[in-house]
Amino acid sequence: MPLLKIKALNETTQLYVWKITETFDELFRSVALKDISLARLEGMKAESHQKGFLSVRRLLMEAGYNDFDLYYDEFGKPHLQDGKHISISHSNDFSVIVLSAVNIGADLEILKEKTLKLAPRFMDVSHLKNLNKEDELFKATVVWGIKESVFKIKNEVGISFKDHIFEHDFSLVDRKCTVELRFNNKVECFDILFDFIENYVFVCAFESNK
Ligand SMILES: CC(C)(COP(=O)(O)OP(=O)(O)OC[C@H]1O[C@@H](n2cnc3c(N)ncnc32)[C@H](O)[C@@H]1OP(=O)(O)O)[C@@H](O)C(=O)NCCC(=O)NCCS
Repeated sequence: MPLLKIKALNETTQLYVWKITETFDELFRSVALKDISLARLEGMKAESHQKGFLSVRRLLMEAGYNDFDLYYDEFGKPHLQDGKHISISHSNDFSVIVLSAVNIGADLEILKEKTLKLAPRFMDVSHLKNLNKEDELFKATVVWGIKESVFKIKNEVGISFKDHIFEHDFSLVDRKCTVELRFNNKVECFDILFDFIENYVFVCAFESNK
């Protein structure tokens, strides 16, 4: 199954999800790539990474764009030529793009035990209190995704997940929360939406206008 879903996250923001079931050849034949993208693709060691990269180009096509409309800045953040904002994430079987009129950061994370083991290194573990083991893993993975998403919005060197990005406590059933970035003597707030897609967590961060 290729395109899994298109979902409006708000009035000006759309999420596109691809479930990667195609072979490399099938995906490769279905997209046109610029030379620079072809060179990147050839340099990728893992076929899963290549398929993630190609499936993102298929998602671009679903949204009316193609590889020629996409470029990257010096930090690796993707941009669209027409000025619309884009954020990209891929992880094993899935890839996502989020398109928006505003700056957004999106992340897709597979649920894996290691994230919970690493939790003390990137989050306030008091937020995992009173949860069963399964929910601890879900929540730690959401928090990791939150931090990646905020990082993707800001795209600034020096941001530490543990020292600069602070999630306010939230409940998994809410599918949303808020977070603060305290960095360079400034406090910035972000609104977060999250959801679960099979055994993956999807997170999207928005700059808060509050
Ligand atoms: C760049 C980074 C956010 C990518 O996240 P990831 O979970 O490894 O991979 P994802 O699939 O979710 O995202 C990859 C996509 O992010 C985008 N991206 C890369 N660098 C980016 C940046 N600086 N800003 C915004 N988006 C970026 C790209 O589109 C990339 O995919 P593509 O090159 O195939 O188009 C992450 O690797 C990173 O560097 N984080 C830095 C902070 C960090 O790791 N801190 C740990 C401290 S505890």
